[in-house]
Amino acid sequence: MKVLSVKAHSREYEIVIEKDFSHLGEKVKGVFHGKLLAVYDQNTHPLFADEIKKELSHVELLEFILPAGEETKSIQNYAKLLSFLAENGFTRKDGILAVGGGVIGDLCGFVASTYMRGIAYLACPTTLLSCVDSSVGGKTAVNLAEGKNLVGAFYAPSLVYVSLSSLSTLPQREVECGFGEIVKYAFLDREVSEGDIKRGITEEIILKCLNIKKRFVENDEFDKGERAKLNLGHTFGHAVESLSYYNYSHGLCVAKGIDKIIDISCKYYGYGEDKREQFKGLLSSVDFALSIDYSRQDLLDKIKIDKKAESGAVSLVLIKEIGNTEVVKMPLDKLEELI
Ligand code: GLY
Repeated sequence: MKVLSVKAHSREYEIVIEKDFSHLGEKVKGVFHGKLLAVYDQNTHPLFADEIKKELSHVELLEFILPAGEETKSIQNYAKLLSFLAENGFTRKDGILAVGGGVIGDLCGFVASTYMRGIAYLACPTTLLSCVDSSVGGKTAVNLAEGKNLVGAFYAPSLVYVSLSSLSTLPQREVECGFGEIVKYAFLDREVSEGDIKRGITEEIILKCLNIKKRFVENDEFDKGERAKLNLGHTFGHAVESLSYYNYSHGLCVAKGIDKIIDISCKYYGYGEDKREQFKGLLSSVDFALSIDYSRQDLLDKIKIDKKAESGAVSLVLIKEIGNTEVVKMPLDKLEELI
């Protein structure tokens, strides 16, 4: 078992990485003694519910199953979960356990942050993306018809428990989602190398990514500075994701976004072909189709309506060197020149 301790400003908590759920019981006991609502989606319930029930036999455990998919992260499901907790007599001593990817995690975290002004939130992330990114750091949210993640809170989990066995049967799209974020970490910090990425899903790469994420969260839990660097590739990534009507996976779009940022960074810092090739070489370790099929104008139009485009400028994370990035407030007319 590997354990990382996140010393965030709001709470200190452990991330446990284990081959299966066999230590979940003892870890839950270590942080909390109330009853627990385990929330699954229709994919994770058949895979993990029996094992989790067995490991948590000492806990009064209730279950709630939601449909899989982004639409689940809604105000309606948020309200349903709150009512379920109230109907079943949950109090401030009790907690909620999210078993799933980012959708279930974000929704449950937000429910936990607001039910009775805050109950314990525990996470068992079961996708690569949620293991290396969304389960850590306390960003919780639901979507509105007007946009994704428009309602939410910073609310740190009390425990994150990663069972590596849950990553062994992921569909290709989920693997792609995770590796888009993993290659992002490789640009943010040299701790993750091209060789690590080429070895695929290993405990080592998950630990390295989590260590990087932990440092960002400890330094800037409430996203007022450094943490913005975790958005590397996301400005163009979100534009492509939306232009593709979400047919492309998030990870693929992030990688396409990083490819665009490499070109922009090289122009912005006046780098030559050697540097561009070095950056592109690292990005090619994920072996994704990186070209963007949308016009420069379509991308700019999407970016302009993105929440990051404020007063005629957009915050972009540029790559100075591998392991050294910079947040630059770039006027939109300058961006138009560079893309
Ligand atoms: N996933 C970006 C962040 O946690 O800030």
